[in-house]
Amino acid sequence: MRIGVLTSGGDCPGLNAVIRSIVHRGTDVHGDEIVGIEDGFLGLIEGRARTVSHDDVTGLLTLGGTVLGSARVRRDRIEQAVLECRALAADLGIDALIAIGGEGTLTAAGMFSDAGLPVVGVPKTIDNDIDATDVTFGFDTAVHVATEAIDRLKTTAESHQRVMVVELMGRHTGWITLTAGMAGGAHGILIPEKPFDIEAVARLVEERFRRGKKFAIIAVAEGARPMPGTLLFDHGGLDQYGHQTFGGIGNKLARELEGILGTEARPVILGHTQRGGCPTARDRVLATRFGWHAVEAVHKGAFGHFTALRGTEVELLPIADGVRELKTVPEYRWLESEAVL
Ligand code: F6P
Repeated sequence: MRIGVLTSGGDCPGLNAVIRSIVHRGTDVHGDEIVGIEDGFLGLIEGRARTVSHDDVTGLLTLGGTVLGSARVRRDRIEQAVLECRALAADLGIDALIAIGGEGTLTAAGMFSDAGLPVVGVPKTIDNDIDATDVTFGFDTAVHVATEAIDRLKTTAESHQRVMVVELMGRHTGWITLTAGMAGGAHGILIPEKPFDIEAVARLVEERFRRGKKFAIIAVAEGARPMPGTLLFDHGGLDQYGHQTFGGIGNKLARELEGILGTEARPVILGHTQRGGCPTARDRVLATRFGWHAVEAVHKGAFGHFTALRGTEVELLPIADGVRELKTVPEYRWLESEAVL
């Protein structure tokens, strides 16, 4: 078979490991030709693709980013492409497509599948917010990077008797912040699922200082927001894709805390460092397993499905199960940490 592969949406450590795994399984075992589509759905629309051979994927297991390139594509362009999807696939000469991406990509993959393009989805996101899969590759790497940053911030915060506000990724969900915050022993953890009260954050810092601990680390997800009526700073707006932005919550929180406490506070925005670089061993393995199962799904004709980790096993689930709603941090999980404010 000629199988098209694309990576779409924000990049994520482990994408290249999936591509490598698809090429190995597809070409070596099934005799497939793997066609790498450039820049996600944009390449599908514009007919930009190249054959990816076994030799082309040498060294990809450990390489961050995606060698195919990735792009976010506006919804109206996707809808137009869905109408033309059979012709687009025919132009590239592909019999099936494996689409690797986050919630937006999987939603689009479901639309293409419904319109008659044979698609299998592979979920990816550092945010870990895709429903029906226990975890996505990229998450472990992001948590690792964030935890190391918190570890490093502790020594400098303590030396200068400062509050460090570290802003972590997670527009809609707090998985990275909760997990890295717990792993790094952050004193305060603020996540989008639980609106926070800045007075409670200030009290926590004051209490620490009263007990002689002259520094504090506050981990805040970029999508965390204040409880209505409790805070002074504005809450951002919508970005070009219609996603809520919160206008640099880390900066604002540090500034406000400094004002309330009269103690030095510094913001640290980790941003895209959480998405870059080499995937952890756990992410490499999950990405490799997802690639293997995606090729098998194509050969079984399990189109309209995506690979999901359930417990220790990889299963194929209907794409709709993954995109119905975002997987947010449930209350019973944040209650397990006293640091969540
Ligand atoms: O969805 C993954 C993610 O890294 C989010 O955590 C973050 O809000 C967003 O992507 C950033 O996107 P961009 O790369 O477009 O700035």
